[in-house]
Amino acid sequence: MTQTDSHDPSKTLIREEPWTIQDTADLYRLDEWGMGYFVAGESGNLMVRPDDRIDHRIDLFEVVQGLEERGIRSPVTIGFPDLLRRRIEEMVEAFTEAMQRNEYTGGYSGVYPIKVNQQRFLVEQVEAIGRDLNFGLEVGSKPELLAVMGLTVDSPDRLIVCNGFKEERYLRHVMLATKLGRNIVAVIENLHELEILLSVFKDSGTRPKIGIRLKLESHGSGRWRHSTGEKAKFGLSIAGVLRVVKQLEAAGMLDCLVLLHCHMGSQISDIQVVNAGLAELTRVYAELCRLGAGMRYIDVGGGLGVDYDGSQTNSEFSTNYGLREYAETVVYRVMTGCDEAEVPHPTIVTEAGRALVSHHCVLVCDVLGAHRVDQWTMSADEAREALAAIPDPPRALDEVVDALSSVREDRLLASYHDAVQAREEALTLFRVGLLDLEMRALVDRLFWSACLEIDRLSRDLDPLPEELLELAHSLSDTYFCNLSVFQSLPDSWAIDQVFPIMPIHRLGEEPFRRATLVDITCDSDGKIDRFVDFENDVAPTLPLHEIRENEPYYLGIFLTGAYQETLGDLHNLFGDTNLVHIIMDGEGGWEIQQIVEGDTVSQVLGYLQYEPRALFQAIRRDCERSMRAGRLTVAEGRVLLEAYEAGLTGYTYLE
Ligand SMILES: Cc1ncc(COP(=O)(O)O)c(C=O)c1O
Repeated sequence: MTQTDSHDPSKTLIREEPWTIQDTADLYRLDEWGMGYFVAGESGNLMVRPDDRIDHRIDLFEVVQGLEERGIRSPVTIGFPDLLRRRIEEMVEAFTEAMQRNEYTGGYSGVYPIKVNQQRFLVEQVEAIGRDLNFGLEVGSKPELLAVMGLTVDSPDRLIVCNGFKEERYLRHVMLATKLGRNIVAVIENLHELEILLSVFKDSGTRPKIGIRLKLESHGSGRWRHSTGEKAKFGLSIAGVLRVVKQLEAAGMLDCLVLLHCHMGSQISDIQVVNAGLAELTRVYAELCRLGAGMRYIDVGGGLGVDYDGSQTNSEFSTNYGLREYAETVVYRVMTGCDEAEVPHPTIVTEAGRALVSHHCVLVCDVLGAHRVDQWTMSADEAREALAAIPDPPRALDEVVDALSSVREDRLLASYHDAVQAREEALTLFRVGLLDLEMRALVDRLFWSACLEIDRLSRDLDPLPEELLELAHSLSDTYFCNLSVFQSLPDSWAIDQVFPIMPIHRLGEEPFRRATLVDITCDSDGKIDRFVDFENDVAPTLPLHEIRENEPYYLGIFLTGAYQETLGDLHNLFGDTNLVHIIMDGEGGWEIQQIVEGDTVSQVLGYLQYEPRALFQAIRRDCERSMRAGRLTVAEGRVLLEAYEAGLTGYTYLE
């Protein structure tokens, strides 16, 4: 079999080797961002590797088909708790090894910031996995604290770090948790919080564990770089830190100050940022020890990045370091800073969230259909034939036929300009009533035919003129996906986050088409046009397969476990997607561990104070009225009411 050398079947160059599954994996950079957790299987389906045993693989396409058979429809978020375990274990391993290598004498305690994904099942999993790994939880608000207090009844010694704005009630909960024996640290973000904390604990019969959040001077990087520096929203300046020390000293509570915290921003893409930030943090830590505080923990915050585009660079969606280098950098910096100041090595606390939970979730959606510019095209011969059949063709039609017939490799840009000019003229004639609808449709077909020919011949141009690059984008297909970007991928919409996206089956076939994706909301922002590219970091279109009639086509959107569904909103009343957790069974297959059904229409209406029962009664009254007026038979009325009721209990997405 011979194949074309690009993703366009009309490309003239022929490649001799057959297209392979590995070619598809390379095209999507699967092996880079998939990090061995996701691989292309020999069956042509995408496989999840829940652990590193070579025969332990879960066929994602098979899972989706199995879920459909059980009535759990796409879009569906599929979580793999085993991947979560792998990430947490790898994190702990990286720190343990770095500490051993450097003869670091303090300990390591990760805390998972639950804001990254607060789903109860996930937080419970982290809590359970972390039991033997000294892994705790971080909260950033009162509701998060109340949830965590309830989830840690049986593991009171696990570290709980409390960040975020705190009023009296928040700090009262901290005091109660302390009395219940929890190992809980309240991190002071501003001086006012310290005053409230002292008054809340005053006659409580217990002493607080206090942390301070430091505003680092060192610069952050990437989108969240302003989490550090003078204008940072959270934390105390050096002068503020000293005020806290003096106030605690005066209250005889300096021993309660046990933790120093910073957060250098999420998705730190450059390891040098970590290096510089930690040098500064450790200096302040050592000074606090010298001043007599009871320091035991140095909390380096979150920020450990995820390589979304697989480029391993310091680009916005990647990182120029891995987990091991991160751990090595943190341990080395803290150690050298403490050794120089001759203070004991503290327990290192990390608040990495994104890097722990992104990988374990895949959002799968079905493609509903596609819009293709090339579905109405004509050849130059067909165009001339059509022209000859028209008695007195308008000049604009003549010109656009000429533009199509004269497309040549040595004048591609000129051909494009001719075609644009001819179409413009036709549009002007149409606006003033001198061109009818049939002629206008013919001009459009000829114009796009010329554009496609120009695009085909311009693929090898280097450099490609900007206008032709834009043309290539406008000629791409549009694939309609059964999902809401606003609900399931808010970061794609709000901050142009790139997520790896690829089909989860047909990987042995070359994906010839190039497309952008649109969702089913009535909002033109509901689209995805930034993709991982095998050449550049980000591409405006995604290679995809042609959709076959009566055959589902599923796309996986990967690394979506952090900051997505829980941040999403109800745009157009599309609600939470179905959520399913899949684990390996004992026989090399998979089983469903848990299903959290997505929102029904009634539920989303209820969130906005509609009363589904009252809506139903209103429709019932309307039916009766229509029956009386003779617009509806009794049988039709019954069918209508049943349909309305079924609609209320149905899934919000296309079923
Ligand atoms: C204080 C704090 N800790 C931890 C995190 C988690 O960061 P990430 O998910 O990038 O690791 C954040 C998020 O921005 C944060 O504000």
